Amino acid sequence: MGNKRFEFGKNWKNYLDNLSDEQIKEAEKSLRQWFGVKNLEGKSFLDIGSGSGLFSLAARNLGARVFSFDYDKNSVGCTKYLKHKFYKGDKLWQVEQGDILDKTYLSKFEKYDIVYSWGVLHHTGHMYQALQNAGDLVADNGILFIAIYNDQGSMSKMWKIIKKTYNDLPGALRGFISVPFFIALWGGRCAKDILRGTPFVTWKAYVKKRGMSPWTDAVDWVGGYPFEVAKPEEIFDFFHERGYSLEKMMTKQGGNGCNQFVFVKRS
Ligand SMILES: C[S@@+](CC[C@H](N)C(=O)[O-])C[C@H]1O[C@@H](n2cnc3c(N)ncnc32)[C@H](O)[C@@H]1O
Repeated sequence: MGNKRFEFGKNWKNYLDNLSDEQIKEAEKSLRQWFGVKNLEGKSFLDIGSGSGLFSLAARNLGARVFSFDYDKNSVGCTKYLKHKFYKGDKLWQVEQGDILDKTYLSKFEKYDIVYSWGVLHHTGHMYQALQNAGDLVADNGILFIAIYNDQGSMSKMWKIIKKTYNDLPGALRGFISVPFFIALWGGRCAKDILRGTPFVTWKAYVKKRGMSPWTDAVDWVGGYPFEVAKPEEIFDFFHERGYSLEKMMTKQGGNGCNQFVFVKRS
């Protein structure tokens, strides 16, 4: 038993089995809304920690030239699966295994118009180095879109222990943590919706938000380790000091989950 990493890719594999056109469209909509554009024609898009590959696919569908990499070989497999399914042989979408902490690996990269790293950099074990490295890949006047876990003080410390315990357990026993968590999270919401006469309305709204699946996200949350957190102002200060302007932000307002930021790198 040691400092095991959560195997994100295995979780994404189950998710892709049920990926719908609607979820893909929602992912595209999320990108269009965050960047305030109709499409990404003529833009280069780097997806760091591409996971399922859904947002790489969405960016490619919107016309961007896409490069995706992920540390986890199963995540890479998932992204390659989506590429093969929708863009077989396409030269404008590349996928490979890579580590945002590996400076030698990163040295081959050009600068990108958009660097997208949603829910990734806090899972590297060295979040601030990862933030720096991701920012270094953004072109002048380019965009950096990141989502970083909100710092909830003692709650975050407790979650770190739960996540570490989850990863230290043998696979067969992990359901003893993830299933009760999922029921606690969704049981109340679903019961309320049924009582209001609007069954599954919250569930459907969740899927619509980023095209994600509640179960995959719940397992991802419980298992996601290494795990670091930051207050919104810490992320703002970090990039502000390095010459980035904050364009858009959505925080969890003290709650659980990721604060999202769109920065522009000033030339
Ligand atoms: C929560 S998932 C997010 C996936 C995707 N960005 C999304 O929005 O759905 C985090 C991903 O970050 C990847 N990751 C973790 N550490 C990494 C690193 N050092 N370099 C690149 N990817 C990493 C994981 O393998 C995983 O696929």
